[in-house]
Amino acid sequence: MRPRHIAVTVALVAALSGFAPTPHPRGAGAAGAGRADRLVDSLLARMTPAEKLGQLNLISVDSDRASPAQLDSVRKGLVGGFLNLYGADATRAAQLVAVNESRLRIPLLFGFDVIHGYRTIFPIPLAEASSFDSAAVEATARGAAREASAAGVNWTFAPMVDIARDPRWGRIAEGSGEDPYLGSLLAAARVRGFQGNDLGAPDAVMATAKHFAAYGAAEGGRDYNTVDVSERTLREIYLPPFHAAVSAGVFSVMSAFDDLDGVPATANHWLLTDVLRKEWGFGGFVVSDWTSIEELEKHGIAGTRAQAGRLALEAGVDMDMVSDIYVHDLPALVERHAIPMSEVDAAVRRVLRAKVALGLFTDPYRGASAGRERATILSPEMRALARHIADESVVLLRNDSGVLPLARSAHTIAVIGPLAADGEDALGPWHTLGRGEDVVTPLAGIRERAGAGTEVLYARGCGIADADTSGFAEALAAARRADVSVLVLGEAQDMSGEAASRSSLDLPGAQERLLEEVTAAGKPVVLVVMSGRPLAIAWAAEHVPAVVQAWFLGVEAGHALADVLFGDVAPSGKLPVTIPRTVGQVPIYYDHMNTGRPGSPTDHYTSKYLDLPLGPLYPFGYGLSYTQFAYGTPRLARSVIGPRDTLAVDVDVTNTGARAGTEVAQLYVHDSVATVTRPVRQLVAFARVLIPAGGTQRVRFRVPATHLGFYDRRMRLVVEPGIYRLFAGGSSAGGAETTFEVRGGR
Ligand code: NOJ
Repeated sequence: MRPRHIAVTVALVAALSGFAPTPHPRGAGAAGAGRADRLVDSLLARMTPAEKLGQLNLISVDSDRASPAQLDSVRKGLVGGFLNLYGADATRAAQLVAVNESRLRIPLLFGFDVIHGYRTIFPIPLAEASSFDSAAVEATARGAAREASAAGVNWTFAPMVDIARDPRWGRIAEGSGEDPYLGSLLAAARVRGFQGNDLGAPDAVMATAKHFAAYGAAEGGRDYNTVDVSERTLREIYLPPFHAAVSAGVFSVMSAFDDLDGVPATANHWLLTDVLRKEWGFGGFVVSDWTSIEELEKHGIAGTRAQAGRLALEAGVDMDMVSDIYVHDLPALVERHAIPMSEVDAAVRRVLRAKVALGLFTDPYRGASAGRERATILSPEMRALARHIADESVVLLRNDSGVLPLARSAHTIAVIGPLAADGEDALGPWHTLGRGEDVVTPLAGIRERAGAGTEVLYARGCGIADADTSGFAEALAAARRADVSVLVLGEAQDMSGEAASRSSLDLPGAQERLLEEVTAAGKPVVLVVMSGRPLAIAWAAEHVPAVVQAWFLGVEAGHALADVLFGDVAPSGKLPVTIPRTVGQVPIYYDHMNTGRPGSPTDHYTSKYLDLPLGPLYPFGYGLSYTQFAYGTPRLARSVIGPRDTLAVDVDVTNTGARAGTEVAQLYVHDSVATVTRPVRQLVAFARVLIPAGGTQRVRFRVPATHLGFYDRRMRLVVEPGIYRLFAGGSSAGGAETTFEVRGGR
């Protein structure tokens, strides 16, 4: 068959990499023009110091309504916005007070953690990242924005763009995994999705890139812990997704909880002002994380609340999330000129400009209504979106002897495990307003798809985290009766997410034993892992014929799983994060340095563990389908390019199997000799391509040479001349290889 030719426009603008000057921010910067500035100036000229600090005050509610005392503060102009107040009626009630009863009638912001859906819960971000599909990821953020905005929410604390390389850290579930390139593309996609083309549109919500910065590098994977990374690692690994979000026009950035090289992020002038504003030209505002200003005292860099507030404001934190310090402790400092009014004004200006950009001065309710909520929330369109991305988020890790897809002919299936029939857990952490009853559970999805003629047995087997094995007998009986068992095992939804670090990556409780005993029963077994982090499933990888990584797939979990298990959809997800063999290998990630003694099984004095084989259990980028793909050697338009050129690469990908499938074709580079050590591989492009059985697709990648840039010994951004290795394949391991040269320049 003649190769079909497709041009994949790899949206690899240098700005996304964080390695090039940022273009003028489309969103946050553009809000500054003309009418908006005049409005903001005129308000500022009329505001008292207390009203100014009030605009910087973000408060939370204890119930589903603002309290009378809070509304009184709104009346006095002492509140800039609420968080956790949602619903068209509740937000309208508070907004009415702001725009009718406060002196300057400045409308309120309503912020909410719409992380992977508002009521229609999509797969967790880590799962969505497995799709390697930025258009689909943008679409779910758009869908979440539609639902949230219908309910009066105008600001979301998402996307979470922290790179995470330590699966012990529970918040790995909320991000896009370990890779800065994938993370940058998805950060930009989510910002576009939430904010739309025009933040003033009634169905857009303001996005927040969080947590700035390097929160994912918490020592030991323990949440809120200290971070100590080099500036090189910070700039090359942790900052690019933030830079990408800024380039995509994000209007707000959240300062992180962690201390970074001795300075807590919330008081880090270098980070919040020198890098974010001066280097990148960020024109939006910075909000603290929850009480992270107050926590400067516990970090030990402030002796009083007032000092904490001053440090945060001076560093560049514009809005105080619930510490209550800006509004209570800063007025005295402003009055005695310990804090210049110009600093307060700059922060207020940024917050007001965001309110203007949201259109709040034109329609403070932005068209939110109970009717719009009803029409949008959990609509068939939202469910279709959720199912589509969930289909793409499933990663097939192993499929021996063709256990999958499950036969369509009549047979008996045993569905076993504590996660098989639970709706809540399938939602994952941060499921906001999602409800268990909205969820199609794995059991329900399998039952529905199996249809008449196939018997579906169910046994819970055991709990998630307890040691009780009394349900084993029932599970084993079901497994023995069935032709195939599907075990749905993993973590409860609250075992990942915030404050949910684990020191073990094993299947919790009695689940590993249940898996081993059911497998020993001798019938084919499919393991479906539901989790918010990679789990160390080394035994399963060796003994269980089929293993599926499902993460938490949201409201359409059961449908999507059934789609994949029965082969209506061929799996196409790829791992956005490395799966280790054991927790002892952590941190483990694909783009590590080579070291002077790369691991070798035969050479003793090399970098490895005595008690483990080399490498991870499954590498970044890995994932199988129900067909196979073969890669031709990458072909280059020119094998010598200049530092400002773009590398044009064609790769023929052939579907060598008997059914159509979608492959995520990946391109990696390695700089063979540089002035500083460079990773063994770096992802520089990828494309999702649907290839018919037996077909060959030519995938055309475009990689700007600027994307090969890195920080040299003097922390200058350079593209160095020299020979680069280029790999094309279906994961970060192996692949077809060629080389090219960058000539000239530095
Ligand atoms: C703390 C979390 O770190 C942050 O991600 C979240 O947005 C805020 N709480 C508000 O809920």
